Amino acid sequence: MSKTFYITTPLYYVNAPPHLGGTYTTIVADTIARYKRMIGFDVKLLSGTDEHGQKIERSARGQGIAPQALADRVYTEYLDLWKLIGIEFDEFIRTTEQRHHTSVSELYTRAKANGYVYKGSYSGWYCVSCEAYAPESDPSTPATCPDCGRKTEWFSEESYFFKLSAFQDRLLELYETNKAFIRPESRRNEIASFVRGGLKDLSISRVSLKWGVPLPDDPGHVFYVWYDALTGYLSGMGFKSDDMKFFRYWPVDVHLVGKDILRFHAVYWPAFLIAAGLEPPKSVFGHGWWLFKDEKMSKSRGNVLNPYVLLEVFGSELLRYYLLREMVFGQDCNFSFDAVIQRSNSDLANDLGNLLSRTMAMISKYRGGRIPAPGEAKGDGEIRELAGRVVQSYRANFDDYNFSRGLENIWELISRVNKYIVENEPWAIAEKPSQAKKLDSVLFHAAESLRLIAALLTPVIPKTAQALWQQLGIDADVKTVRLDELRWTEELAGKTIRGGAALFPRLDPKEVFTKMDDVSGRKEAAAPAVPAAAVETGEAAVASMITIDDFAKVDLRVATVIEAERIKGADKLLKLVVDLGFEKRQIVAGIAVAYQPESLIGRKVVIVANLQPRKLRGLESNGMIVAASIGPDTTPVLAGFHEDIQNGARLR
Ligand code: MSP
Repeated sequence: MSKTFYITTPLYYVNAPPHLGGTYTTIVADTIARYKRMIGFDVKLLSGTDEHGQKIERSARGQGIAPQALADRVYTEYLDLWKLIGIEFDEFIRTTEQRHHTSVSELYTRAKANGYVYKGSYSGWYCVSCEAYAPESDPSTPATCPDCGRKTEWFSEESYFFKLSAFQDRLLELYETNKAFIRPESRRNEIASFVRGGLKDLSISRVSLKWGVPLPDDPGHVFYVWYDALTGYLSGMGFKSDDMKFFRYWPVDVHLVGKDILRFHAVYWPAFLIAAGLEPPKSVFGHGWWLFKDEKMSKSRGNVLNPYVLLEVFGSELLRYYLLREMVFGQDCNFSFDAVIQRSNSDLANDLGNLLSRTMAMISKYRGGRIPAPGEAKGDGEIRELAGRVVQSYRANFDDYNFSRGLENIWELISRVNKYIVENEPWAIAEKPSQAKKLDSVLFHAAESLRLIAALLTPVIPKTAQALWQQLGIDADVKTVRLDELRWTEELAGKTIRGGAALFPRLDPKEVFTKMDDVSGRKEAAAPAVPAAAVETGEAAVASMITIDDFAKVDLRVATVIEAERIKGADKLLKLVVDLGFEKRQIVAGIAVAYQPESLIGRKVVIVANLQPRKLRGLESNGMIVAASIGPDTTPVLAGFHEDIQNGARLR
């Protein structure tokens, strides 16, 4: 029976729609899963959604819906997105499923039976956005979150604690004996020094929160959302629901996560597992961040790219290729539209696309569509030898999760074959019967190289790989290729090619940007309109009657403008950051005609705090500033206060 390989993506929060960061993690996980299958492993790829906790409860409340309804909606968005990008996951776990509740309770019960859980009380600062505790615990000094820099919130209540402090030595030993446990190495050092600095026991239950899995022996408490979510890796693989499956695939071979959540996976998670007598994962890989103009893409900064827009404009194959080719796995990387276009035109349309189309065209024109048996041409041996070498180096790089180098290896072969064709000038020798063998050889070597290239591309761009094989006249599913068996053969000789359309059209930057605007505009139009709430005092008739309960649904809050700037290309809009006391928000407001950005800094305003987030000009707007105007096209006047009032106060 073949060896197993269990790989996971994080379980994504459902407070907001999917964004490029998680899309990237999942594309990489899918690529690794496909690659491992290609080298003979019995692979399980798990993805999922993290549906409990304060962040989601609050977001649902803000949208006036139940947390479960929000979770159901965003879960579906993830499923749709994974399908569009060609993610072939084997398991998907939602933390609101019953099988998951069972498994969280079991993990806790075992840890408690082993003496690693006790009851106490917790007082400290908490970051709802990261669902993490801040290290400081002085109630008089509000702490900012060490991870994201946001303001934290104080809470103090009865809680169950996990004895994390008991695991310091065991964790350090784990990092020491298994050097690949945390990757890349630089992050291993960071985590090890964090652990060496001392570990405090961890509060793993909340009483003030209701949206979670209740503790089996004290249902007034729900589990801390990270204790709950991490356990998804067990529940999704049959823990307490399918023993055969669980024993076959556990432990996890690699958890793929972004560097911001490495600590949870490399410190808390192995400790939770060991405490319950379960094997910890074999490795955790913390990849870098996608940046936009050197800043981390994040929902709170409002600079995240919408994966649906990118997919519609670029297609899934180009997006997959770009993300894997451009980012050195483990490091941060700037996302650039120009670079996507460049990769598409140069690597895909020009190098790969031309190799395919000229090979197809020549086989069809000079050999009636049949791939000839090889003869002899200048450079044949070199091509064969390079192909063999490329398969080896590609394998070494992919084994090491060095995808961009592995892709470079493939492109080395593509370039060499293109050059080989030019050097042999097939178009010049085509009419000379004495050169027939030479022409045969060029055509054969080009076709056989393409067969191998397609096979190597399968984990990254599976649809393109299959299309390449189809054009070459190969009926088999390219996914069935085993890398061990992939070698230069002459089996293509005599095959009739099918040919077909160009795989990648050349992209014109102007057209791409116009399309990007159209698609983003369409997606934005689907969201509710009006950037600033216009209180239309000039209209005689008031809107239809509402009840006090209807009014209570609108969460109006006091906030202070702390940043304001114009948005390039949008005359009417300003990008603002407002401080609500308990959090900071980015809001895009249609008030640029009336206010200079500088004049707004420090000004108290009223915002609609529970309006669904939406995108304007590609920027996320999390709320709406309240302003009055005489009519839709007249100058808005911001609502404000004569007396001082603190941020976050609610208007009732
Ligand atoms: N729910 C937790 C994970 C629980 S796993 C048991 C969570 N969810 S998340 O939806 O916020 O984040 C998912 C992943 O997206 C994380 O791995 C995070 O690192 C990644 N990214 C978020 N922004 C990113 C970039 N800008 N670039 C690359 N990935 C980043 O955290």
